[in-house]
Amino acid sequence: LAKTAGINGNIRSQFPIFERKIYLNSCSQGALSAAVEAGLLDYVASWHQGGSPWDRWVQKYEEARAVFARFIGAEPDEVAIVPSASAGINGVASALDFDRRNNVVLGEFEFPTMGHVWLAQQRRGAEVRFVAAENGALPVEAYERLVDTRTLILPLTHVSFLNGFRSDVSGITRLAHQRGALVLLDGYQDCGTRPIDVKELDVDIYVSGTLKYLLGPAGVAFLYVRRELLPSLVPSVTGWFGQENPYAFDVKHFDPARAARRFETGTPPVMNLYGAIPGVELLSGLGLDSISAHIATLARLLVEGARRLGIRIRTPGDTVGPLVVLETLNLDMLLARLEEHAIVASGRHGGLRISFHLYNTRGDVEQLLAVLEDNLDLLAREG
Ligand SMILES: Cc1ncc(COP(=O)(O)O)c(C=O)c1O
Repeated sequence: LAKTAGINGNIRSQFPIFERKIYLNSCSQGALSAAVEAGLLDYVASWHQGGSPWDRWVQKYEEARAVFARFIGAEPDEVAIVPSASAGINGVASALDFDRRNNVVLGEFEFPTMGHVWLAQQRRGAEVRFVAAENGALPVEAYERLVDTRTLILPLTHVSFLNGFRSDVSGITRLAHQRGALVLLDGYQDCGTRPIDVKELDVDIYVSGTLKYLLGPAGVAFLYVRRELLPSLVPSVTGWFGQENPYAFDVKHFDPARAARRFETGTPPVMNLYGAIPGVELLSGLGLDSISAHIATLARLLVEGARRLGIRIRTPGDTVGPLVVLETLNLDMLLARLEEHAIVASGRHGGLRISFHLYNTRGDVEQLLAVLEDNLDLLAREG
């Protein structure tokens, strides 16, 4: 595999899909590993054996919280386990009021959920401002024009699902903090591809989920909220697992947990957590530095190859991945042609999305480029 990146060549054999396909769609769903499959089966076995082993399941849920926290450089009590990124973002939105500060500034490369959640807050007084892209990019200066002393929060995608654009997180966070606004980083398209340290990034809130580059199943996401912010953020989206003591079974009192668990609602997604933990552990075991170097090498190879073929690239040329998006003329047809060659990719708004992870190889890029070369009539060209 990529010896230079230091990734163990056996890793691909742990993902059976590569026996049949060239899988380049981790931006939608990570490939299933033997370890994650075993985790899911472990859940089934525990149910068979114990009937209702809730003590064990709750232990697993706390283990997952610790695993997620360690992965992003946070403490477990700063992490809530939620069923989706949308659920986490809604919890945060429900904890804010829009009196003194009322505007929300977000870029047009955000995942749709981000728009939907904040637009839904218009009824509660939010003013939503969208930052327009300039030449396929969203630089800090574009945000600067819309962020003011009435800005409450900047939701920010780390990497765009649409074109692979990587946000300048530190620049935008600095700007937000200078003007007294919060930053909510959506790490979904980055988390699992490189080291992440929420403290170093200095973001206030971070959300990601397990089904893409964290190699896990759907149904689990997590929300980090900086410790100092917790007392001031009381969600109105809530439930018994968000209480200080869920097992008090006290219907008459609302007593939100002191910890970030206050953003949780109902019974945790136990089965999904059994699958999520081994995915994160697999990545940590290999080392995120080598994974990111490996991904960057493959992204560079694809960009160079696409340039050689004259294909128009939506992703900035200096990308380190994981997502590279090519401009097509007929996306559906191109996806079908790729499928004929057992290549799995995806598309959004006419862009062919190719995403790389630890299990991809130079050979994958070469085979993809060969199919693209045979189908140049379906791709937008430079000039
Ligand atoms: C950037 C980003 N945020 C969020 C999501 C999904 O969030 P949810 O867990 O709410 O489905 C995706 C999924 O495609 C995404 O790419």
